[in-house]
Amino acid sequence: MLKVSRRNLLLGGAAIVGVSTLMSKPGDKSGPRDPYFLDVQSALTAAGIATPTLVIDRARLNANIDTLVGHLPDRMGYRIVAKSLPSLSLIEHIRQRANTDRLMTFNQPMLTALSEAMPEASQLLGKPLPVQAARNYFAALTEQSAPAADRVQWLIDSGSRLKQYADLAAAEDRTLDINIELDVGLHRGGFEPGAELQATLQAIHDNDRLKLSGFMGYEPHIPALPTTLGWRDKALNGAWKKYRAALDQAAEVFGADALQDLTRNAAGSPTYRYYEDTEIANEISAGSCLVKPTHFDSELLEPHLPASFIATPVIKSLPTTRMPGLEFADSAKRAWDPNYNKTVFIYGGHWLADPVDPPGLSYNSTFGRSSNQEMLNGGPDLEIAADEFVFFRPHQSEAVFLQFGDIAVYEGGAIVDTWPVFEASA
Ligand SMILES: Cc1ncc(COP(=O)(O)O)c(C=O)c1O
Repeated sequence: MLKVSRRNLLLGGAAIVGVSTLMSKPGDKSGPRDPYFLDVQSALTAAGIATPTLVIDRARLNANIDTLVGHLPDRMGYRIVAKSLPSLSLIEHIRQRANTDRLMTFNQPMLTALSEAMPEASQLLGKPLPVQAARNYFAALTEQSAPAADRVQWLIDSGSRLKQYADLAAAEDRTLDINIELDVGLHRGGFEPGAELQATLQAIHDNDRLKLSGFMGYEPHIPALPTTLGWRDKALNGAWKKYRAALDQAAEVFGADALQDLTRNAAGSPTYRYYEDTEIANEISAGSCLVKPTHFDSELLEPHLPASFIATPVIKSLPTTRMPGLEFADSAKRAWDPNYNKTVFIYGGHWLADPVDPPGLSYNSTFGRSSNQEMLNGGPDLEIAADEFVFFRPHQSEAVFLQFGDIAVYEGGAIVDTWPVFEASA
């Protein structure tokens, strides 16, 4: 269905004749195609692919895994963030190459699927699950997945949730591993050091069916803070101070020796490179940096390569851009901004993603977005024919990867494998 928003058209019309005169004239961004994407395009064509497809470049993925593992200090563990890499085959590939058995899981269907496929892996919940979801997890266990249930660390963010999980442990007649969510500055909930944490640690200590397995303190807000006046360093030191204080409280309740066995989880892609020793954390979790969507284009992640792309066929390639009902303004718009000279309509669209090849393509906010045939515009040097592919970089991986069916794995100039993704669920 053509999705031309009336409001967009009207606002766009005004923009063409009015507002644009206040801005400086844009330069032509179109140009020759990147040979890298032409190679991926040849591989997709040779593989007979003709629908919007999520492509992972396995050589780049491997380079990113090696970069991450190479950064880890001695004795620092690596936990794979499953939600950001939502495919069993992708996770299995990373497990093998990074040599890790640790996963961070975020919802019950994924917990169940990973328990079934990788019963030997350790899973730490990355967000606290409603106790009913945990109950459903136990109810869904099979002979195959049962051993995995003993390797799950349940994340607890409050005294009341701990009480619910204590009741679940009694009802299930099993011991539950409890990991405590710390608020180290993100303020997304969890415990700060203090009386409530003390009471919770004591409650775990006093309950035979609960076992303290560790802490999780996530701090992705830090790289976004300005360096002015040392704000970023202060936030990082503040996070670590809180983490250390929580560990000291645990040592008081359980004894210092007990700390040796605890999971001390921290970080995510944006921050894992801050961890250069194991004084606070003894494992970091990360996922997105291995495929590097655009939200992870940061200074700290400079050594990581974009390794995931959406490729979609061009349905129509048109030599001029014509706006429905606003044809009178087309030539003025073209003269003002050469990047609107030409038009392609692609197969699908409206993804959380930015076009990257051919160069200079952009969405048309006047025409509006479409999930069916999205309009993209480009400059005079745009050269792309129907059935050739446009490439996008996703903004994030966790939801976007689930929209295309099997992932096409690209390596050495060919599509060498396909990796099924998880079912979309929250
Ligand atoms: C608790 C926790 N740890 C780590 C991560 C890092 O994931 P990624 O590396 O994909 O950003 C997340 C992401 O949401 C998270 O919620």
